[in-house]
Amino acid sequence: MDLKIARKTALVTGASKGIGFAVAKGLAAEGVRVIMSSRNELNLQKAVDDIRLAGFEAFGIAADISKLSEIDRLFDLTKQRFTEPEILLVNAGGPPKARAQDLDEELTKLAYELSLMPSIRLANKAIGAMKERNWGRIINITSISVKEPVANLALSNSFRAAVTGFAKTLASEVAQYGITVNNVAPGYTATERLMELFTDKQALADFSQTIPAKRLATAEEVAAAAVFLASEQAAYITGQTLLVDGGMAKGLL
Ligand SMILES: NC(=O)c1ccc[n+]([C@@H]2O[C@H](COP(=O)([O-])OP(=O)(O)OC[C@H]3O[C@@H](n4cnc5c(N)ncnc54)[C@H](OP(=O)(O)O)[C@@H]3O)[C@@H](O)[C@H]2O)c1
Repeated sequence: MDLKIARKTALVTGASKGIGFAVAKGLAAEGVRVIMSSRNELNLQKAVDDIRLAGFEAFGIAADISKLSEIDRLFDLTKQRFTEPEILLVNAGGPPKARAQDLDEELTKLAYELSLMPSIRLANKAIGAMKERNWGRIINITSISVKEPVANLALSNSFRAAVTGFAKTLASEVAQYGITVNNVAPGYTATERLMELFTDKQALADFSQTIPAKRLATAEEVAAAAVFLASEQAAYITGQTLLVDGGMAKGLL
């Protein structure tokens, strides 16, 4: 299916690895010019090179999106060198593991800057040009934790819920301008992040058997949902969270 987004420009953060990289690659394969960002320049350049070697258009701008000044710089450079993004994919590493009763000021502020503020800051920077063009796609990568809180991931459970609330509210404000705002909520996905959470390989293999699909997701399977939400065909889907979890979450909605 032609997703009708060829020659659009996308900004994808957290794009050097895992789900973000898979989204960048998926969009690039649709003919989208992809501006990729993450903190480590070497890893980022390698990821950009991988996509270029596959014959697609990608560029890298290193930035730490947990810092307002870096978001400003990333956005300004994207605008100067390319154009303001028509597709915005907000993603980064997940916040550290923690129980709710162990949260202190420092941890909580760190997760707020990493897991909530980039969605607000980047979306609000992007919507001006999207409104002028009467077209835009904003997608956040959140987590299965928005459907069912995950034990020991109090920071993810809290701030992903806040992103979901922000996205839903923004979606209704900008729908009239042809802008959609959605979230993709991955279940357990085979990436470095998951290896950080499960240091014991056998425990991870055992855990995988508790997923109805009996396996982890691939980053590409999660990315496919985001690429679809970026498509022309998804124009009437907004304010939604699309779970990609192999049947893991048990809630009805
Ligand atoms: N994997 C799973 O099972 C799973 C499940 C549910 C939700 N999620 C969520 O999905 C998101 C992506 O997960 P993943 O598994 O793909 O993670 P990953 O493999 O650890 O990749 C994270 C990416 O984000 C970049 N990044 C990290 N911190 C950043 C920052 N402050 N500013 C800019 N870029 C940053 C990393 O590159 P640099 O280190 O170079 O910056 C890397 O490119 C995370 O938020 C995670 O919590 C994952």
